[in-house]
Amino acid sequence: MSSPVWHPYAHLKTQTPAPKVIGGEGPYFHLESGERLLDATCSWWCMIHGYGHPRLVAAIREQAGELCHVMLGGLTHEPADRLARELVRITPDGLNHVFYSDSGSVGMEVAMKMAVQYHRLHRRPAKHRMLSLMKAYHGDTAGCMAVCDPEEGMHSLFSGYLPQHYFAPAPTAPFDAAPEEVADDLAALRKVLEVHHEEIAALLMEPLLQAAGGLNMTSPHYLAGARALCDEFDVLLVFDEVATGFGRTGRLFAADHAAVTPDIMVLSKGLTGGYLGHAATLATDRVHEAFIGDGAEYAFMHGPTFMGNPLACRVALESLAVFEEEGYLEKIAALNGVLRTELLQDRALRAHPEVVDVRVLGATAAIEVHNAAVLAGVAAFARERGVWLRPFGRWLYTMPAYVTAPDELRRITDTMKAWFRRS
Ligand SMILES: Cc1ncc(COP(=O)(O)O)c(C=O)c1O
Repeated sequence: MSSPVWHPYAHLKTQTPAPKVIGGEGPYFHLESGERLLDATCSWWCMIHGYGHPRLVAAIREQAGELCHVMLGGLTHEPADRLARELVRITPDGLNHVFYSDSGSVGMEVAMKMAVQYHRLHRRPAKHRMLSLMKAYHGDTAGCMAVCDPEEGMHSLFSGYLPQHYFAPAPTAPFDAAPEEVADDLAALRKVLEVHHEEIAALLMEPLLQAAGGLNMTSPHYLAGARALCDEFDVLLVFDEVATGFGRTGRLFAADHAAVTPDIMVLSKGLTGGYLGHAATLATDRVHEAFIGDGAEYAFMHGPTFMGNPLACRVALESLAVFEEEGYLEKIAALNGVLRTELLQDRALRAHPEVVDVRVLGATAAIEVHNAAVLAGVAAFARERGVWLRPFGRWLYTMPAYVTAPDELRRITDTMKAWFRRS
């Protein structure tokens, strides 16, 4: 009997039955069929410690024995308080306030509402639109869909339903560009701000790595330039570090590469090591102080039922402890070395007629092809080789768990390359 589960992003007519996962350990998950698959995607980039990590599992068990859930409205608890303090400690200087929610999309909704209300409280109600970037992906809720790439993004179907915002071109200068090479990207951003800044509440970006919109890897100088432009035009800068946070770009946060503090920063995915859905939207004192006032309009009217869930906060604390105690940034640097050697330096791959570009940043690698049809069948091909790869659009990529050993990562890159060598 077919399952009543409606799968995400699936074409119901052509989908094949989803394999059933029954467990996992480290970078592998196990299927009911007996297969053991090496996960090249760490489950949409969140399972940074891999599956079944003993410390994370124990933390959830321990917390479950004490308190599984309590509302955060008017109440607090130790894991929520401790995690907020830890997030303030590890994020760029000045992000001193933490608003919890339950997913990356909702964390971004919170950021956008905060930005609009910030300007309203400063008596600038006309500043109620966002400035986003082409190739952006910020989530699947209505507010988030409206700030995803309106042309190539997966939400164009809903354009009539969504609020209208502004878009600047996606940055083009690569990660290692010289400062002068980002001049054109910043000029394009300035152009939109000059014309529309009186309506713009915030500039949103996935710093350094536009992920689901096409794995576009860009320069830290762009972040610094964007910070200066936001200050000049009185626009808040929001970093969506849902995908980039917790090491994915090689530093703890992408913002760290540029020593930039955004006004608002959103974290999710790796926040809990992927073990429970949760998110945090951090704000600076400047943003927070705008909400201190006498009228009813000063309250921030948002409060997801599961915000600050004790299990999620507790496992997030354990995830962070493991990250720091077990030298994850070194592990990520080693993975980066493998990705560079195996993919960037592979001349045959780069010269393949179907390949447009090969890119690596931190523990992320992408092979971009001209035509999405070239990647049809790659998931089944990888599965036969014991690897779980799930390309999207024109991108075959890996974002492995940080516990993936160099040899295991080579198995992933070998599989990716083998796809282009098959006859
Ligand atoms: C950069 C970015 N922002 C937001 C989201 C949405 O997060 P969620 O799927 O938890 O709602 C994603 C998810 O992939 C993301 O990559």
